[in-house]
Amino acid sequence: MKKILITGATGLLGSSLVPHLKKYDYKITTHSLSKQADFMFDLSDKSKTFEMLNKNQPNIIINLVSQTSVELCEEQVHLAYLSNTRSVENITDWIGSSGANCHLIHISTDHVYDGLGEHKEDDITITNNYAFSKYAGELAAARVSSTILRTNFVGRSQVSHRESLTDWVYKATTSGHFVKVLSDVFFSPLSITLLVNMIELVLQKKPIGIYNLGSHNGMSKADFDFAFAESLNLPTNTMTRIETNQAKFLKAYRPKDMRMDSSKFENEMNIKLPSLKDLIEQIAQEYNEAS
Ligand SMILES: NC(=O)c1ccc[n+]([C@@H]2O[C@H](COP(=O)([O-])OP(=O)(O)OC[C@H]3O[C@@H](n4cnc5c(N)ncnc54)[C@H](OP(=O)(O)O)[C@@H]3O)[C@@H](O)[C@H]2O)c1
Repeated sequence: MKKILITGATGLLGSSLVPHLKKYDYKITTHSLSKQADFMFDLSDKSKTFEMLNKNQPNIIINLVSQTSVELCEEQVHLAYLSNTRSVENITDWIGSSGANCHLIHISTDHVYDGLGEHKEDDITITNNYAFSKYAGELAAARVSSTILRTNFVGRSQVSHRESLTDWVYKATTSGHFVKVLSDVFFSPLSITLLVNMIELVLQKKPIGIYNLGSHNGMSKADFDFAFAESLNLPTNTMTRIETNQAKFLKAYRPKDMRMDSSKFENEMNIKLPSLKDLIEQIAQEYNEAS
């Protein structure tokens, strides 16, 4: 049975990925920083990372460890480095030095892009510490047999401590809270449900390299938020469109266009990814079913 270690298993993505993969014939081991998991420690600690990996001897590591707060990464560049770069270096140092037959699936971000999309994989523009530390993490991941997935995702969170963009919109529109939505930031996310399915496919095929993994026909976050609320017949009168230069609550620079061209992934995996419009319908259905 294939042994899979999921690092950063207790976050937004991990909380959907772990139960999904447990349905298959894999032996799953989980890791986190502080939440309940099989191993709990800071992955920037090299000796603890080596100790875990020597003990677990995984065939595949899926690395979801990240400091995902763009604001915190901007304020504390060393923290961004430790969580998003050093932690990956520790994993790949172990794979390299132990000679283990271990493939790494490393989750990265569309935040490494800016300027007019849709971006192909080599069209990098680094604009803040989060993007820089994630890009450096990719370079560390590429030192071993690895699949690096640049992605973004929306959909129902399975844990109370982490909220997705759609959770935030759902909460605001159902509770009547006034929120501001960004009309000049464009993206092309997948649903969490589709992303965990794609990761399962990657587990089987293990393609080597960097791949964009997003939807077709991306849109602005504001258009997405409105379309999502409308597809659930929720009132949108509490949402106001603003541009990022009016968003005084955002201190760090945000890329304006993170839309990705995912044709390299589609060709490699022989699949067709859906449009964001179609995904919104699927995600709305998941919220309907849960309510
Ligand atoms: N969320 C998004 O919208 C988004 C968009 C694009 C790309 N991504 C990428 O997708 C991946 C997963 O994101 P996510 O939203 O699931 O992240 P998340 O919810 O913030 O979860 C991060 C996970 O990493 C663990 N962790 C953080 N720092 C650690 C450290 N220094 N040592 C050990 N564990 C640590 C956390 O443990 P605790 O739970 O114990 O704190 C948690 O399990 C990341 O690579 C992220 O860059 C996310």
